[in-house]
Amino acid sequence: MATEDYRSASYEIWQAMAAGWDRERSWMWEASRAVSEEMLRALGPEPGQTILELAAGTGETGFAAARAIGPDGRLISTDFAPEMVAAARRASERLGLANVEHREMDAERMDLDDDSVDGVLCRWGYMLMADPATALAETRRVLRDGGRLSLSVWGAAERNPWASLPAKALMEHTGVPPANPKDPGIFAMADPERVRSLVQDAGFAEPRLDEVEVRWRFEDFDAYWRYVTELAGGIAIVLQAMPETDREAVRKLVERATGDYRVDGGLELPGVALNASAG
Ligand SMILES: C[S@@+](CC[C@H](N)C(=O)[O-])C[C@H]1O[C@@H](n2cnc3c(N)ncnc32)[C@H](O)[C@@H]1O
Repeated sequence: MATEDYRSASYEIWQAMAAGWDRERSWMWEASRAVSEEMLRALGPEPGQTILELAAGTGETGFAAARAIGPDGRLISTDFAPEMVAAARRASERLGLANVEHREMDAERMDLDDDSVDGVLCRWGYMLMADPATALAETRRVLRDGGRLSLSVWGAAERNPWASLPAKALMEHTGVPPANPKDPGIFAMADPERVRSLVQDAGFAEPRLDEVEVRWRFEDFDAYWRYVTELAGGIAIVLQAMPETDREAVRKLVERATGDYRVDGGLELPGVALNASAG
């Protein structure tokens, strides 16, 4: 897909995902907070700093930083999808966080001055961008000297069955060949060497890499299937657009494939995030 077509398709996908991500924010945070806590440790935000969050979605990772930087600090919480920004804004208002500014912003073209922030957070964003090298160069540009970047992407598909099983089932049913591993998508930065070179090529020092394990728990297969069809980004949109009979066929393949992950009547699907930080 041409780059501009990918950008507008991705924008529409995330606009459509926002309602589900907003609804499931607490569940999502509980399952994945270890990833964000590790990101925050690597960033080390200090009172009074300005922290930028890119591709913030519903905002939780940045909100943890907002608490650390205190009333004299400022969190700029950004996402390119207005529905995500609106969901994040509602949440920060509910939480009474007065030091958060919400903005619609594409991480590949940041509307921010050079050397204007002390730290950048981006959880599960860069690998979805059409041109992560440009987004990382933009990140370097807006960071002050001594500032840090702390990011998270997903590790290898085999270690993230929660995301790879539905994609595999879809390929099996439709016969569509697998995407090029470097094309934007959930596993586009799964190779630590690619993360290292993208980060260093943008002008950062060699990043520190850490794996963080995640366990996604679902009360039953139906709950997992709701997640796959309502929250799972591009794959959700493909499944929603399919004729019912095809969707049912994919559902059966996924249900069979998740058999090994049944625990106490529910499902527990493991995952591994790859966190990277650099100054
Ligand atoms: C998988 S979600 C992650 C959301 C949030 N960071 C989290 O960890 O819960 C990906 C987010 O990236 C955003 N996104 C994708 N491409 C973007 C871009 N080029 N610029 C800014 N945001 C982008 C989407 O709108 C979506 O909110």
